[in-house]
Amino acid sequence: MISVVIPTYKEADSIQEVIRRAAATLSQSGEEYELIVVDDNSGDGTAELAEELAQKFPVRVLRRPGRQGLATAVVAGWGIARGDMLGVIDSDLQHPPEILTPLARALRSSNADLAIASRYVAGGGTSDWKLSRRLISRGATHLAASVLPLKLATVSDPMSGMFLVRSKAIKGAKLSPLGYKILLEVLGKGQIEKIAEVAYQFEVRTRGSSKLGFRQYGEYLTHLMRLSWSTGQIGAWVEYSIVGLTGTAVDLGLVYWGAERAGWGVAWALPVAVQAALLWNFLGNQLVTFPQPTHSNSPKSRILTRFLLYEKACLPGALLNICLTLLLAGGGTRLILAAACGVLVDGAFNLLFKVPAIWRVWGSPISVSHGDLMPASPHGS
Ligand code: GDD
Ligand code: MN
Repeated sequence: MISVVIPTYKEADSIQEVIRRAAATLSQSGEEYELIVVDDNSGDGTAELAEELAQKFPVRVLRRPGRQGLATAVVAGWGIARGDMLGVIDSDLQHPPEILTPLARALRSSNADLAIASRYVAGGGTSDWKLSRRLISRGATHLAASVLPLKLATVSDPMSGMFLVRSKAIKGAKLSPLGYKILLEVLGKGQIEKIAEVAYQFEVRTRGSSKLGFRQYGEYLTHLMRLSWSTGQIGAWVEYSIVGLTGTAVDLGLVYWGAERAGWGVAWALPVAVQAALLWNFLGNQLVTFPQPTHSNSPKSRILTRFLLYEKACLPGALLNICLTLLLAGGGTRLILAAACGVLVDGAFNLLFKVPAIWRVWGSPISVSHGDLMPASPHGS
């Protein structure tokens, strides 16, 4: 059975249509299902409108006394759910309910633990978002993948609020989300090994108003930090940072020794030092940070292939480093100081833009597939 939670806060204009369309698509798909509306005392009739439909469709309404956040509403709904598949969908029609069918099919057919509706795979997208919102969403996605690379670097849309998960995958997991992003909690704490992604278009909101505000942005950051502790990824981060710092010492030491002692000249000493540091960092991460990366889906278990992937991910930062150092040194800055600035910018660049790609070199315990999962009804309608 599929249990889909529909969290609502002041969605009187759309809740009935969401229920009707979700019920239609799920009953067509032949799956047994229930819908659980979790309303936070909207006061605009949302809960009553949902209850009205309970005679026609398998709908239950869970009322909470006041606004307590989207993600906890989902956990509360799952708490009373009966299904072996648990899902969530927004109640403002920005998530097309019809996508529930391909999501369910993806879970069943690919034997995945989790099926995510994604805006960022072929066929998906956001209709008509302002550039600012697009950037915030992409930035938030990238930030999440950087803070939790082992869990998120392979997932295209970890911000998604529409997905189905097998109840056994989160059984026993202590879900204590904060704010909006329940999927992060599921990915972080569930037993998720295989994911299917299904494309969808995030629709424009034509009814009611968005509930996303600054408070939710703040909660998001806190939630990410909490997850980095509870998933233990903070530990990998500490090791990764220590390896990076020792690599800096290798780099600066070689620049100094090569250019000022051995007389190689800057043009030789610099690239040799940067390359040596890359090799050092690679081996350090291989031995210390990711000692057992042999997940079935890690890119290639052969160490040389992995090293080449690592080089590719680190090349832009390394070039930045070399150019900046040459520029500064050419302008009269002491070489070692110039090289230190180069390393600093290199590190910052990788931290900001490259962490998910670099960590992916050692693979992820989670495999993601995109099948031929276009929405289609089994009755051919
Ligand atoms: N019960 C309850 N309590 N529901 C809430 C609350 C709350 O405190 N806050 C929001 N909701 C409900 C809304 O009624 C709506 O159905 C849904 O959660 C999403 O809220 P919106 O305010 O419409 O979110 P959005 O459109 O900005 O963001 C959506 O897009 C993201 C993708 O970037 C959300 O669906 C996210 O889940 C999704 O990931
Ligand atoms: Mn919305």
